[in-house]
Amino acid sequence: MSSLYKCTSKNIENAATALKNGYLVSFPTETVYGLGADPLNKKAISNIYRVKSRPTDHPLIVHISSSQNLEKWAQNIPNYAFLLAENFWPGPMTLILQRTNLAKNYITGGQDKVGIRVPNQKTALYLLTKFELIGGLGIAAPSANKFGAVSATSAEDVLDEIGDRLSLNDIVLNGGKCKVGLESTIIDCTRNTPSVLRPGAITIEMIEKITGIPIRLSSNKKIKVSGKFESHYSPKAKIFIGENAKPGDGFMALRTHPTPNGAIRLARPKDVDEFARQLYKSFRDADKRKIKNLFILMPEGTGLAAAVKDRVLKASKKT
Ligand code: TXA
Ligand code: MG
Repeated sequence: MSSLYKCTSKNIENAATALKNGYLVSFPTETVYGLGADPLNKKAISNIYRVKSRPTDHPLIVHISSSQNLEKWAQNIPNYAFLLAENFWPGPMTLILQRTNLAKNYITGGQDKVGIRVPNQKTALYLLTKFELIGGLGIAAPSANKFGAVSATSAEDVLDEIGDRLSLNDIVLNGGKCKVGLESTIIDCTRNTPSVLRPGAITIEMIEKITGIPIRLSSNKKIKVSGKFESHYSPKAKIFIGENAKPGDGFMALRTHPTPNGAIRLARPKDVDEFARQLYKSFRDADKRKIKNLFILMPEGTGLAAAVKDRVLKASKKT
């Protein structure tokens, strides 16, 4: 069991040393909390898979401190990917690129592609920089939750999810609540044109504007994205879309929407951004309160609303 550490420079520096020594560090990013390890240390990486109960053919994202380090991990990078990196990093965007030899099979799940991201969160960036100063080349980190479960958007969520699976020397940095609250947009950049594998806060509209290329959601089945499983991001509560909540059911909708009679209101976000930020917390609250059915009235529209819709649909497809 690990405990929470405040994000002081000293604690972050200790966390960098812990990474170097092969331990796990859970750290805040602007999207969700990551469970990090040294991507050059096979044993440390195998611990990530053990803690998450994640199948080993599911690749990990390598986080780097700036796009200057991109070509250590990726090669044959198309121009549109450089444009995306310039415009949206640091930020909630992961690029899938052809890997270099540095990205081993145990990081990429055996694929010849690697996922790279520069997070936009000061603790994450400080940790990456400090780790690089002592020889690190980036931090491999999936979301800090059990496989198939809801991502953690606070340090307390990390402890609830995987605290009992961490060792005494592993570290959880407490950087408060995540600003975005949904996982990064994943863009496949291994073909002539980009395609979005997982929608997020870098929206399809934003990607089209920067690249000048019309974007579709990918149907590339060869690429493994765990968020593409039918059942994912799932709380224990059964998720329904709409407002037909009965007394005792959970309910989440924008503030302007009234609570159905007798339903338990879990969140009343004022806009789409807040909706995204509060979604996973509502999933967790529903489970803590042993709510069996959770009704979600989703915000309309494109952009971040599309990412919210994607996660709610996936959570509702629990089998
Ligand atoms: O916002 C985020 O992306 C968070 C924070 C911690 O950065 N990370 C995250 O990681 O959500 P994870 O592992 O829970 O989800 C990343 C997804 C996985 O579904 C994985 O399959 C996909 O990215 N991915 C990673 N590397 C890939 C690769 N080489 N090829 C295809 N998909 C990849
Ligand atoms: Mg995940």
